[in-house]
Amino acid sequence: MTSKGFRVSKAVIPAAGLGTRFLPATKAMPKEMLPIVDKPVIQYVVEEAVAAGLSDLLMITGRNKNTLENHFDRVAELEQVLSQKGDEKKLFSVQASNQLADIHYTRQGDPRGLGHAVLRAKSHVGHNSFAVLLGDDIIDSRDACLSQMLKLHEETGDNVVALMEVPKEQIHLYGVASIGAQDGDVVEVIDLVEKPEADKAPSNLAVIGRYVLRPEMFDILESTQPGRGGEIQLTDALQHAAKHPEIAGGVRGVIFRGRRYDTGDKLDFIKATLRIAVDREDIGDDLRDWLKGFSKEL
Ligand code: G1P
Repeated sequence: MTSKGFRVSKAVIPAAGLGTRFLPATKAMPKEMLPIVDKPVIQYVVEEAVAAGLSDLLMITGRNKNTLENHFDRVAELEQVLSQKGDEKKLFSVQASNQLADIHYTRQGDPRGLGHAVLRAKSHVGHNSFAVLLGDDIIDSRDACLSQMLKLHEETGDNVVALMEVPKEQIHLYGVASIGAQDGDVVEVIDLVEKPEADKAPSNLAVIGRYVLRPEMFDILESTQPGRGGEIQLTDALQHAAKHPEIAGGVRGVIFRGRRYDTGDKLDFIKATLRIAVDREDIGDDLRDWLKGFSKEL
């Protein structure tokens, strides 16, 4: 395949998780709809994919996720009311989410793990390389990561994962890479393990929720047996690719050093809200002032 063959236009966004860490808020609402300031988490993720040039998105959803589809659809009555009122700012914010990209949906059915969710994208993706963006992770738009990964994939034809250095006490929450040759922030990944105990982790480099994969990864996923937690793990399929690069290409990592928020975690969710809110034009200055006073109360 020429480098043109590794050009990516499709992204898969797994969004079928139950969001149990945010109960009771997520009892009747998908966790992806929790807002950071005034925009649902999932919209940040969709905007990131679009900003990296990906225009064809497939969301893997599940039961009780209809609001995701509603959010990215038009609401003619609302648009009409805002337009009659002449409230262009709000009208634009309502229209923005349904004009972002061509978004498709499929359901995961049985919740059998991230690898299984990605496998549900097989027929939509076809014989093309594709990106995977996990809905829980938000990468700050000021610190782009995906575009660098896509470029590396186009140049090398290898699968690419985003990696981040994380403290030892958090490493058990992630897929962790064992690395070989390093060139700046680009590394060769020689092994991966899903959620190891801190003492057994091969490094402090965790896979954060951004991947660029070759279509042959679907074949590997199809024969990947349930792993950690009895689920079909994407990490295990990538481990197989790293060890057998002749099947689906090797695996490389891009070490990301920017701002990333795990919105699946309560504390990180609040940090993300604050980090994003203090830079907002409408409320940033007032919030900064208030925070300065508030920090003295602590
Ligand atoms: C998933 C992946 C894990 C990865 C993480 C990033 O885990 O299985 O390898 O490091 O996302 O957020 P989850 O957070 O869904 O348990």
